[in-house]
Amino acid sequence: MSSDAALHYARDNRERFLSEMEELLSIPSISTLPEHQPDMVRAARWLCDRLQDMGVQAETVGSEDYPLVYGQWLQAGNAPTVLAYGHYDVQPVDPLDLWTSPPFEPEVRDGNIFARGASDDKGQALTMVFAAESYLRSTGALPLNLKFIIEGQEESGGQVIKEYVRDHGDRLSADVAEVADSGLLAPGVPTLDTGLRGIVYTEIHVHGAAHDLHSGLYGGVAPNALNALAAIIARLRDERGRILIPGFYDSVQMPSKEILESWRRLPFDEAAFLRDEIGARSLIGEPAYTPYERMWARPTLDVHGIAGGFTGEGAKTVIPAEAIAKVSMRIVPNQTVDEVFDLYRHYVQEIAPSSVEVDVRLIHGDNPVVVPEDSPAIRAAREALQATFGRPAVLARSGGSIPIVGIFQGALGLSSVLMGWGLPDDNLHAPNEKFSLENFYNGINATIRFWERLGSSATA
Ligand code: BES
Ligand code: MN
Ligand code: MN
Repeated sequence: MSSDAALHYARDNRERFLSEMEELLSIPSISTLPEHQPDMVRAARWLCDRLQDMGVQAETVGSEDYPLVYGQWLQAGNAPTVLAYGHYDVQPVDPLDLWTSPPFEPEVRDGNIFARGASDDKGQALTMVFAAESYLRSTGALPLNLKFIIEGQEESGGQVIKEYVRDHGDRLSADVAEVADSGLLAPGVPTLDTGLRGIVYTEIHVHGAAHDLHSGLYGGVAPNALNALAAIIARLRDERGRILIPGFYDSVQMPSKEILESWRRLPFDEAAFLRDEIGARSLIGEPAYTPYERMWARPTLDVHGIAGGFTGEGAKTVIPAEAIAKVSMRIVPNQTVDEVFDLYRHYVQEIAPSSVEVDVRLIHGDNPVVVPEDSPAIRAAREALQATFGRPAVLARSGGSIPIVGIFQGALGLSSVLMGWGLPDDNLHAPNEKFSLENFYNGINATIRFWERLGSSATA
């Protein structure tokens, strides 16, 4: 089998794969901060060069500033075509002082590589790049047709890839998408995700008086934008985690009994979860649902930040004229962005104190997605995971969102295999992000095996 040669090659090249990953991790490609725009181009260029070096036809497309990396190798005749997706953009690094080693100076400690983007998603995206290299350099061919699309705006709304899919969808045609941007349920437990939550990310702007006012002279009569904002926020959800927006739950469709039953059989140690991943006194949320149900199948509402008034040292007696909150909702089948945002906006306007002016804005939104639990591609993935990890894959979901997965499904009719290599304690979006090197190498091997098996199946 050609996968044997590729697996050999991958084993022999581990050190170089690691040092190349370190090169990519050293580029601070933070998509949400405009000052890093040149780094976006550098990271895209780096990936494009790697693909070209190994014989994949690759180019940067879609945008000069936040390019997509597109690559193709289509010499496998009638074999299925896989569209391999990842993202090279990363989250901001603050608070910087909590990092043990600098976020863009990758460091290996205890079998993990620490850097921003190590797990989310440069390290994971590279498992597919190095799997391709392993085939092409050892055998000169891939067992199937392969396209790459690696974006640079996943963490900030994905505008470029969404436009590219709309305008050049035919170029991305494939039998199935492979998405390496999720993780294992627990160390050593290979996992296929069968669903992701969607997101509705908003801002609430409150305008009170024409300008800030002295709180002694005007307190008691002048509207306070922060007090008004706090009053609004307090009425968005109750203390048991129920969202109070009328009609919010009307289109929520819970998974089947069988699926819920299968989740109850998945490993979950609530005490360890609370201690090791959350580090709080207790979990919150709807008491009628298990933690997995609350994270994977129930919608949520979270406040991310509140700005306004005085937060410096000492005291300033001011009635703030303006206040802003960032609020997002995670949404689940069959809720939609449009429907949820509409209900939310009306409700916020309705509960807003009449003394202030409130403006509710949609920053970005993506619908939830579920993927088939059985298909030739899922079967190939399960076999590849079993062969790599020595135990059967579990089917789970994730509460996170990967916007393009729903777009692939809706606009291209393309379902995804969500096969990721992160771990629950990888510190995604947080200080000391890391990626397990064992999972990095297992991810490369599993991808090699996945392509072999899928390549020899009739359809994807
Ligand atoms: N890779 C994550 C999402 C993820 C993590 C899915 C773990 C499954 C398992 C992705 O990069 C991410 O952070 N997505 C954002 C999307 C948002 C900015 C549109 C999210 O979920 O907050
Ligand atoms: Mn990601
Ligand atoms: Mn992310």
